[in-house]
Amino acid sequence: MENHFIAVIGTGYVGLVTGTCFAEMGYSVLCVDIDEAKVAKMRKGIMPIFEPGLNVLFDRNRKNGRLQFTTDLEKAVRESTFIFLALPTPPGADGAADLSYVLGVAKQIGPFFNGYKLIINKSTVPVGTADMVREVIEQQGKRVGIDFDVVSNPEFLREGVAVDDFLKPERVVIGTSSPQAGEMMKQLYEPFVRNGNPILIMDERSSEMTKYAANAFLATKITFMNEIANLCERVGANVDAIRVGIGSDSRIGKQFLYAGIGYGGSCFPKDVQALAQTSEQFGYRFKILEAVLNVNEQQQLALLPPMRSYLGGSFQGKRVAIWGLAFKANTDDVREASAHAMIRQLLAGGASVRVFDPEAIETTRAVFGNQITYATDLYDALEGGDVLAVCTEWNAFRKPNWEVVKGKLRFPAIFDGRNLYAPRQMEELGFFYHSIGRPYRKGE
Ligand SMILES: NC(=O)c1ccc[n+]([C@@H]2O[C@H](COP(=O)([O-])OP(=O)(O)OC[C@H]3O[C@@H](n4cnc5c(N)ncnc54)[C@H](O)[C@@H]3O)[C@@H](O)[C@H]2O)c1
Repeated sequence: MENHFIAVIGTGYVGLVTGTCFAEMGYSVLCVDIDEAKVAKMRKGIMPIFEPGLNVLFDRNRKNGRLQFTTDLEKAVRESTFIFLALPTPPGADGAADLSYVLGVAKQIGPFFNGYKLIINKSTVPVGTADMVREVIEQQGKRVGIDFDVVSNPEFLREGVAVDDFLKPERVVIGTSSPQAGEMMKQLYEPFVRNGNPILIMDERSSEMTKYAANAFLATKITFMNEIANLCERVGANVDAIRVGIGSDSRIGKQFLYAGIGYGGSCFPKDVQALAQTSEQFGYRFKILEAVLNVNEQQQLALLPPMRSYLGGSFQGKRVAIWGLAFKANTDDVREASAHAMIRQLLAGGASVRVFDPEAIETTRAVFGNQITYATDLYDALEGGDVLAVCTEWNAFRKPNWEVVKGKLRFPAIFDGRNLYAPRQMEELGFFYHSIGRPYRKGE
């Protein structure tokens, strides 16, 4: 029997990158997904997601046989020692992480154990989940430490640069109280940290909390800067200057200081919510997180009030062109995207919307269907439009032909949610230009 050393259960943004990168390092990997159509596609060599650089590794390792795909969970569990769970943990109705996918798979796998297995949780899960997974498997008569161990191994990759992040992680966090499991995990990851970056071994709960603390901190940093931007608009300061001014302080750092129309994506929104929910469960009010959630919800819609007033106080019958649908550049992921939040409000206000994104048209069509129209390129998106809103910082939007833009829009007005253009230049070109935290005064 062929020995697939690693199984990855759940082949989405995290699972597919995890499986592919382990295969790239020479391991034999069997990826499992419940979605038959997705597995059939991957077997034919079709990537189910857009992630820069992944297709080269995917093709290479699929062709050399180290990366395989199946819907057969039993086969994957039997043939592997390392079993990664890269399953969804979406927010439940109360904001807490929905653990039904993780615990559902945990319930299924025990009966298939035919030797020692390491169950490694890569999904972002609340504190205590490793213990819950262990208990679920124990209930199936399996012995901890002999038949299996459960390890927390949160993933820190960023969509858009996921391959690089996975192959050269700044740190690998491993949560386990089993010395044997810790040693096995260290050896597994050793090829990824030849540059000397650390593999940090800690207890399961601390590891689970590390992931939430990281995402909540980053979401807070962005949100703080968005609040500074909102204040800049009122006091007449420029958030770009402030970003450079504070970012050069090494205690603050340069990253995650770009003001805009809020954060989105499949991680920050749900992880901040889940951490706030965990706090509540444990009787602690995490006030900063509540503020972050509130501010971001407003910030995602920050372009709408100035746009509405520009359009005479109502969206009824107005036509809005949108550039950018993905929650950030270099991905097709539209989960919790600011553009989507805006589109919902525009439609509710009676506007019609025409959109373009280099990668996220199909993922958006799956959400909005024929409620909006889809353009073939950035200029096509402007056809019949009154004004333009920019919602994602794709490079393709940075240097458009402004004469063409002006010629197509009914009003020369641009609402830039990602601060891609220089206010002075836009004014010189004759546009009404609104960005985030950069009020423009003539002569500046
Ligand atoms: N996307 C990111 O950037 C990122 C980064 C770090 C951590 N995470 C975390 O990783 C986890 C996975 O996120 P994702 O973005 O890859 O999710 P995803 O929705 O892209 O992928 C999940 C996959 O699991 C499959 N699946 C669902 N139930 C299954 C089952 N019973 N058996 C087998 N497969 C099943 C789905 O079909 C899907 O392909 C989440 O907890 C997320 O918070 C995500």
